[in-house]
Amino acid sequence: MTVRTVIAGTGSYLPEKILTNADLEKMVDTTDEWIVSRSGIRERRVAAPEQATSDLATEAARKALDMAGSSAADLDLIIVATLSPDHFFPSTAGLVQRNLGAFKAAAFDLEAACTGFIYALSIGDAFIRMGSYENILIIGAEVLTRFINWEDRSTCVLFGDGAGAAILRREEGGERGVLSTHLHCDGRLAELLYAPGGVSRIPPSHEMIDQKLNTVRMQGNEIFKIAVTKLREVVEETLEKNGLTEEDIDFLVPHQANLRIIQATAKRLNLPMEKVVVTVDRHGNTSAASVPLALDDAVRAGRIKSGDRVLLEAFGGGLTWGAALVRW
Ligand code: COA
Repeated sequence: MTVRTVIAGTGSYLPEKILTNADLEKMVDTTDEWIVSRSGIRERRVAAPEQATSDLATEAARKALDMAGSSAADLDLIIVATLSPDHFFPSTAGLVQRNLGAFKAAAFDLEAACTGFIYALSIGDAFIRMGSYENILIIGAEVLTRFINWEDRSTCVLFGDGAGAAILRREEGGERGVLSTHLHCDGRLAELLYAPGGVSRIPPSHEMIDQKLNTVRMQGNEIFKIAVTKLREVVEETLEKNGLTEEDIDFLVPHQANLRIIQATAKRLNLPMEKVVVTVDRHGNTSAASVPLALDDAVRAGRIKSGDRVLLEAFGGGLTWGAALVRW
């Protein structure tokens, strides 16, 4: 009998503090009009000083466990996709394991920038289909606002904090579940979107901090063009692998970096925007948290129906990109 990975529950958490475009107008030389027209972003969340990534991740995980009707004690594995972990080491996933009391679970972090949740879904699906595990918690969580240069208007208006989670469960014989996943990376383009310092290449030093080398650097214009192309390619790869055409896709859950990139992917799929979840206006770009935050938003709003073919996609630092097709 076919073994499939089903998404048994989703959950998300957003910090309370909202930073609006009007707030940013007071901090850097920008306007609400520029930010909305270029990116679609209106506001983003900022974690409280005492909150770290594992705190956001744990809140999202609790809600996903609740929706799945699962207990933390049943979890076999926890994967946290993040580029803003609590510490250099140990892993954020281990801290989430401790917070949840999920002491049976193995736990590790995964770094694939904004594509991290798609990578985590793919790895979780492989573990389940291999027969290694039956219950897996995957999380995308970020406190990106700690790694932003708040004097750089070209990046500081784009990013936000948050966490999203999903419970993956083994199911036999059914129609629903993960149909395929597709992962890519082009390391030759790594420096188009990165934080140069703070780890082994340029270790922490006063000079490194003075030059803000631990903050996000992005060539937005270049990234934009590559993202539109690579997302179109990975959508085509997914359709081909499953012997489907764009008419067979019922719902799109895209990475939330830029409304114009989302619209380009929706257009490729001939999907009207009511079949696309958009949270970028409220969340900004939350990197690895973006796809699971958007997924949970659509699931809780009842927009994704049983039997729907749902396409998840993401693009980000690495450069990485990927997609997953799930029968709901
Ligand atoms: N407010 C006002 N003006 C700004 C600004 C801001 N916050 N940020 C940049 N500008 C200015 C630039 O200085 C530039 O001015 P110039 O023409 O005088 O040099 C002008 O706006 C255009 O900048 P550009 O970077 O070409 O704008 P854009 O249309 O490409 O939009 C992004 C910028 C970042 C919104 C867009 O490139 C983008 O979304 N890129 C992809 C992001 C992404 O997907 N990231 C990876 C996934 S995680």
